[in-house]
Amino acid sequence: MTRYIFFSGKGGVGKTTMACATAIHHALQGRKTLIVTTDPASNLADVFEQEIGHKITPISVGTIHELSLHAMEIDPDEATREYKERIIGPFREIMPEDVIASLEENLSGPCTTEMAGS
Ligand SMILES: Nc1ncnc2c1ncn2[C@@H]1O[C@H](COP(=O)(O)OP(=O)(O)OP(=O)(O)O)[C@@H](O)[C@H]1O
Ligand SMILES: [Mg+2]
Repeated sequence: MTRYIFFSGKGGVGKTTMACATAIHHALQGRKTLIVTTDPASNLADVFEQEIGHKITPISVGTIHELSLHAMEIDPDEATREYKERIIGPFREIMPEDVIASLEENLSGPCTTEMAGS
């Protein structure tokens, strides 16, 4: 069963530190672990000292390379593009252009970005 652990809170309280420590702990126990951040100013790449970005990336911790640990830094713009395309894509071929334009318009607000990133 997939388990989710969320770390939230105001700025600088230790979300990233605790999330990374928890992810490493579970990976060391042999659990397949994915750490994901929705922070547009993510510093996961600095913590793990490797490039991550908007894709699921295998993570090494120090000299431990065979950990079942992966990370992803969600890019809000990319996530929004993917999310909109998932919704609108199937209608492109079968609906008139003005309906597609209206769907695009309805999915162009900040709420869509929030939904796409989470
Ligand atoms: N349990 C802890 N005890 C003492 N210091 C800590 C602890 N957890 C984090 N810190 C320190 O607090 C600072 C902020 O931690 P961190 O970057 O993890 O917070 P954050 O909530 O992710 O911040 P942001 O909101 O900027 O993303 C860092 O300097 C970190 O080393
Ligand atoms: Mg942080």
